[in-house]
Amino acid sequence: MPQTWNPESYGRDGAFVHELAGGVLEWLAAEPGERILDLGCGDGQLTKRIADTGASVVGVDASRQMVAAARARGIKADNGPAEKLPYPDHIFEAVFSNAALHWIRGQDEMLTQVRRVLRPGGRFVAEMGGHGNIAAIRVAFSAVVARHGFASLGDRGNYYPTAETYKRRLERHGFAIQKLILFPRPTLLNNGGMTGWLNTFYRGALDSLPEQLRETVLKETVALLAPALHDHDGRWTADYVRLRFIATV
Ligand code: BEZ
Repeated sequence: MPQTWNPESYGRDGAFVHELAGGVLEWLAAEPGERILDLGCGDGQLTKRIADTGASVVGVDASRQMVAAARARGIKADNGPAEKLPYPDHIFEAVFSNAALHWIRGQDEMLTQVRRVLRPGGRFVAEMGGHGNIAAIRVAFSAVVARHGFASLGDRGNYYPTAETYKRRLERHGFAIQKLILFPRPTLLNNGGMTGWLNTFYRGALDSLPEQLRETVLKETVALLAPALHDHDGRWTADYVRLRFIATV
């Protein structure tokens, strides 16, 4: 069950994705005139911030809807999978990625492609979900769908490696690690709360359920999560863990 993206709900309930990306953008430190690829550019919010530095940036995303949303923002963006990037060899000084790598099934194919499109001396700067990412949400959702006979929808198939695992993987592909950290990033959700988050980020799984069950699954998941992630002031916090790195070729 592939994830499906709705740029409108992503813009509303996923705004924190670009709002909290200051750290990885600082690590990128884009320079005017540099050619940069934004891998998994989504709706182009961050691509735009990179372009505003004077860098020459292009986005690529596997979702046609997201590419359309990025283009509507005036961003140059292409539709295509990370495992088969539609660019010639060695044309980028940097490949950047935020909150996208954990969705990619073919990690080795993707790393081969990133290496291929980077110039010698180029850098891969990224932030993604790391080991333990959204653990409570995953467990709650899995438990609820299993109770209703849809256990297979509980395994989202996303990839959340430890620091050691991803370091080894990057090195196997010939990258030199300059910096790599794993850190918890509890993330305050906006007014849509956990329901808005699930509706946006678990869209693919919810759409795979029989329609009459979707609301029940949503309500039961939210109820199960409340003691862990809903605070006394009525706010929801998602239990994100991030892996951030700079690796060079
Ligand atoms: C994330 O870590 O950015 C993420 C993972 C799965 C669903 C939504 C967001």
